[in-house]
Amino acid sequence: MTGNYDQADYWSSDAAQKWVAQQAAMDTLLGPVLDSVLSYANLQTGNHVLDIGCGAGTSTLRASELVGDAGHATGLDISETLLAQAAVTQDAPNVTWLLADAQSHAFETGKFDAVISRFGVMFFADTTAAFSNITRSVNPGGTITMAAWASAADNPWFMIPAAASREILGPMAKTDRTLPGPFAFEDADRIIPMLEAARLQNVTCTTHQIALTGHGSAHDAAELCCIIGPADNALRHFEASLDQKRALRDEIAARFTTHETTRGLEIPASIHLYQALVK
Ligand SMILES: C[S@@+](CC[C@H](N)C(=O)[O-])C[C@H]1O[C@@H](n2cnc3c(N)ncnc32)[C@H](O)[C@@H]1O
Repeated sequence: MTGNYDQADYWSSDAAQKWVAQQAAMDTLLGPVLDSVLSYANLQTGNHVLDIGCGAGTSTLRASELVGDAGHATGLDISETLLAQAAVTQDAPNVTWLLADAQSHAFETGKFDAVISRFGVMFFADTTAAFSNITRSVNPGGTITMAAWASAADNPWFMIPAAASREILGPMAKTDRTLPGPFAFEDADRIIPMLEAARLQNVTCTTHQIALTGHGSAHDAAELCCIIGPADNALRHFEASLDQKRALRDEIAARFTTHETTRGLEIPASIHLYQALVK
């Protein structure tokens, strides 16, 4: 399968509604990741920027502010639901929203100076084909800067809800993390050759340890985990009762308390920042 029809369906289903409903919480949680992407991307006044898998558009609006009125930011996403939300909440005169599959969209050649993405590039059925396609839209000398989750084992935001779900609800089939999904880019040794095959140059991957903060108490964070991520998947898979859901939420909250600090809850996270040059 080389199309992204499954992803188009998934990101326009109730998953998208959940991202819309939790947009503020997710933006707070993932704020440090966006800061890192934008710091590495080093956008300049007047740049034309493409934001891949922009979701509800926070990163696109931030990019548009950095490039100023002389520049432009295009937020591209496969989800009609998320783009509709972006258009309502993140619009600006120098922003365009583009409903498209980044892997197959017929981009105008050399339209962009920089490509950014926060967690929007791990879902392609064919990563090399997708980046070959995206690269055509970038001027020589342009850069691609994108964040992806690093090793699952180093990301308790996923591991704790997954372990708690196993304990409370039971085991689920093991997932192949090389398939489209949040951890598809965790193995840089597997991904860098795919990007090089798309004729990207000077491809680097640096791993950053950050803290996910600002989601309130361990209990609040556990609530969010029961809406988005592995615990939500397990709750739906096992058609869990309300009592099971409460038990799972409490188990996740108990496990998160190990990450409580005097500054509040700080969940460590490991992020890959991939960067490459278009020649
Ligand atoms: C984890 S969300 C990240 C959203 C946003 N970048 C953020 O950080 O809030 C992944 C996004 O990638 C989008 N996506 C998945 N496959 C895509 C594709 N083939 N082309 C364009 N967007 C895609 C989804 O619709 C979703 O909005």
